[in-house]
Amino acid sequence: MSLAVCPGSFDPITLGHVDVVRRAREMFDEVVVAVAHNPAKRYLFDAETRVELAGAALADVDGVRVELVPGLLARFCADVGAAAIVKGLRGAADFDNEQAMALMNRHLVGIETVFIMGDPTLGHIASSMVKDVASHGGDIEDLVPPAVAAALHRALSPSADPAGDGR
Ligand code: PNS
Repeated sequence: MSLAVCPGSFDPITLGHVDVVRRAREMFDEVVVAVAHNPAKRYLFDAETRVELAGAALADVDGVRVELVPGLLARFCADVGAAAIVKGLRGAADFDNEQAMALMNRHLVGIETVFIMGDPTLGHIASSMVKDVASHGGDIEDLVPPAVAAALHRALSPSADPAGDGR
């Protein structure tokens, strides 16, 4: 039984992430979507909500489960018996970010990272941009799964923050 971990912040999960997880599942018997903490980011959704939204987005995919990473991703991968980490790359900027993490995770527990090229039709989708579009009242229905769109509208629609100052 081969198991892969697809890690990320998933703040929130997008259709680009869902595509990568589905394709990882075609290569591995089981996929654990690992919702982890990136100290460089300020999150819109708390960790439990990010897990919940990812779970809803992937509920129809057999052999995929979503878990919270309590600390170091490498240790989590070792604990769940992962054969590899799988990440999607939209382009060179993604690679630059991922290379150091892949090498560090291999250094820590010997785990390899497998990169798959993101579907070019989804290459414009990034969680940060989706949040920006939603916060200005733009259409996000074809960028994220339905439950995520609803959660973003609740959290970010201009009417939820009429002054636009986050208060
Ligand atoms: O979606 P992101 O924010 O690019 O994902 C980065 C993430 C969360 C996977 C990374 O920051 C991570 O693995 N965090 C968990 C803590 C950890 O293991 N840090 C060392 C990474 S080499």
